[in-house]
Amino acid sequence: MQASACPTLPPFWNGYGREGRARMGRLICISNRIPSGPNPSGGLVVALHDTIKETGGIWIGTSGEIVDTPDNTLHEITDGPFRRMAFDLTEAEQENYYFGFSNQVLWPLFHGRTDLLEIHAEYLDSYKEVNRRFAKMLIEVIEPEDRIWVHDYHLIPLALYLRQLGAKNRMGFFLHTPFPNPITLHALPNAEDVCEWLANYEVVGMQSERDARAAIACLTEIAGAQELAGGFVQLGERQCRVAAFPIAIDAQEFRHLAEEQIDRLPAGVIKPDRQLIIGVDRLDYTKGVPQRFKAFGEFLSRHEEWHRHVSLIQISPPTREGVEAYDNIREETEHLSGQVNGQFADIQWAPIRFINRPVPRETLAGLYRAAQIALVTPLMDGMNLVAKEFVAAQNPEDPGVLILSQFAGAAEQMDDALIVNPHDIEQMATAIMTALAMPLQDRRRRHEALMDVLLTKDVSWWSKGFLTALG
Ligand code: ADP
Ligand code: G6P
Repeated sequence: MQASACPTLPPFWNGYGREGRARMGRLICISNRIPSGPNPSGGLVVALHDTIKETGGIWIGTSGEIVDTPDNTLHEITDGPFRRMAFDLTEAEQENYYFGFSNQVLWPLFHGRTDLLEIHAEYLDSYKEVNRRFAKMLIEVIEPEDRIWVHDYHLIPLALYLRQLGAKNRMGFFLHTPFPNPITLHALPNAEDVCEWLANYEVVGMQSERDARAAIACLTEIAGAQELAGGFVQLGERQCRVAAFPIAIDAQEFRHLAEEQIDRLPAGVIKPDRQLIIGVDRLDYTKGVPQRFKAFGEFLSRHEEWHRHVSLIQISPPTREGVEAYDNIREETEHLSGQVNGQFADIQWAPIRFINRPVPRETLAGLYRAAQIALVTPLMDGMNLVAKEFVAAQNPEDPGVLILSQFAGAAEQMDDALIVNPHDIEQMATAIMTALAMPLQDRRRRHEALMDVLLTKDVSWWSKGFLTALG
């Protein structure tokens, strides 16, 4: 990445033309991670990438560079298809704000894993400090008409700090993870702060109705907010609207990519006498990969007739390495895949191929299309874009079957998938058999219904919906 200091932003076209710009202001998207490198993995970067390509705007976040002393200016990143600006974290901030409060407190808490919470005062202090520092840099570059769209759990207090610095802009927040219910949020010593931080936005967007309801319950039960009609909530002087805006993909584009890429897969990936099951997830403990391996093992022990005729490719790049819970999940999944392979493999066939690196998006699209089944079985997930990518990639004449966890936000929109409880290994093993045996007519009917949802509620529907609510 190239970086150069740029404290003020020159005008630019944002998709509304010069006059439109004056009226609407610019769209400023803000998230901890901004895209770098050729293979973004993680729903936030993938979805926002598609949005900003379409609407125009500036994307501002952390650079990924670690420095000794913070320089307190945003740097322009010049090597990309759209405008990005970034600032560097210090090692202590990376440790306490990113690995600490963001990923060892908020991430496990929001996914219902209170057993993994690491609550330390220095994590919270650093989280607030980085958000304050970021707000000071932002106030130098935003203009009064700009719309500010903040993304994800790393940056919840940003609106409060921007408002304390005098910003009167309309500000929206979108959470890419689930939101916990009040009992779970209470595990946080400063649960009330989280509610107050949220109330500083005009619009708070969640992935699903489940999470929007949970957020309203927290605001009212923990912070004493008053629930008004239409999803509005009043907390003190501030009023905000909490609603579900299910994130999505550019299904049309992804379908074309998959059509193109299926013939470019390396030789040997598709075998005429072998069905392919695919799993694609960052190697995160929320994704249910151990349960998935166990279910596949259970299926193989029940169905000897399928030995050598089906394999599972699980593509899981490591993420947040160095955090104990992530090191543990790596060890556990390596052990389980080894166990299933040890029990069932022969010289011509290994049941599980466990790949621990990112794969180019094109290759993923081709692999989805080549697969007969996708196992998307998180224990808890805000949405899960892999479920949508798999469906979009299918050949409508002979589509594969999506096996989807009831705990993925996607299940609210995609109930024509085979819905499973990822904790129930036996049920998942049965679902694999059901999917392998599913008649073509049934597969087509389910795929058509799922594809209808993806084409009408695509990524541009998602961003327009949020930005319209923001005004
Ligand atoms: P999360 O946001 O928790 O990572 P999602 O399923 O919503 O989960 O989004 C994951 C995104 O990252 C998808 O677009 C998926 O294609 C991409 N991705 C996941 N794993 C890989 C991988 N191994 N290589 C490339 N892209 C990946
Ligand atoms: C999820 C989060 C994103 C995050 C991504 C990758 O999608 O919602 O905010 O960027 O995971 O995680 P990382 O910690 O590598 O940014």
